[in-house]
Amino acid sequence: SKQRIIAIDGPAASGKSTVAREAAKRLNCVYVDSGAFYRGVTWKMLREGVNTKNPLAVLPVLLKSKWKFEVRDRAVFFSIDGVEPGEALRDKDVREAVSDIAAMPAVRKFVVSNLRKLKKLGSLAMEGRDIGSVVFPKTPYKFYLDANPEERAKRRHAELIARGETEKAQEVMESLERRDKKDSTRKAAPLKIADGAYVIDTSEYDVEGVARVLLGRISDLE
Ligand code: C5P
Repeated sequence: SKQRIIAIDGPAASGKSTVAREAAKRLNCVYVDSGAFYRGVTWKMLREGVNTKNPLAVLPVLLKSKWKFEVRDRAVFFSIDGVEPGEALRDKDVREAVSDIAAMPAVRKFVVSNLRKLKKLGSLAMEGRDIGSVVFPKTPYKFYLDANPEERAKRRHAELIARGETEKAQEVMESLERRDKKDSTRKAAPLKIADGAYVIDTSEYDVEGVARVLLGRISDLE
C-alpha cells in the first residue's frame, strides 16, 4: 500500500499521543513521538550536568552523543550512548527544562534531521509541534489537535497521579500554560496550525470519536 506520513501537532495534553498511536495501529504506520526526541536531548544534558539554558554548553555534548533508533511494537525507540532513557523522559526535571532545549535552533536541526530519516521505515504517524509546518510540510495528512486548557490540565493531572506523582491540579495547569507559552512564542518553529492542517477540538470527543474524525479526513483526501 502507499506510504502515508500523518502529521499530528498540538499543545501539551491535547490528546495527540493517544490519537497518533491509534491512527498508527489502524493504518499500519510506525508511531513516532517527536517530543521524546527533545526530551531525550534534555535528559542527556541533565545526566551530563550541562546547563540546559546555555546553547554553547549543550551543543558540543549533543553532537558527540551517539543515537541509535529501533522499531519495537510499531513504535520508534532510541538509545543515547547505549542507554535507553525510557520512562525517565517523563520525569519532572526533564519536563521543566525541555522547552528551553527545544527552543535552540541547533537542537531542532539535529532532531528534525533524525525525524526525517525515519521516512525510510515506511508509513509514519508522527506527533509533535512542528511536524506539519517544518518536518514534513509536503504531506497532505496534517492535523492540529487542541482542547481547552481546563480539559488538558485535567487529563495531564490524571496521568501524573496515575504515575504516582503528587502535583496539584493548579500546578499542572500553570506548568502546561508556561510550556505552551514558550512553545508558541519561540522564534524557531513555534507551535502553530500548519497550512492546510485539519483542526480537531478534542474537548468534545473521546478517543474513538477523534480517531473516527481523523480517519474520515484521511479517506476524504484519497
Ligand atoms: O510532546 P511533548 O510534551 O512530549 O513535548 C515536549 C516538548 O518538546 C514540548 O513542550 C516542546 O517544547 C518540544 N517539542 C517541540 N517540537 C516537537 C515536539 C516537541 O518543540 N515537534
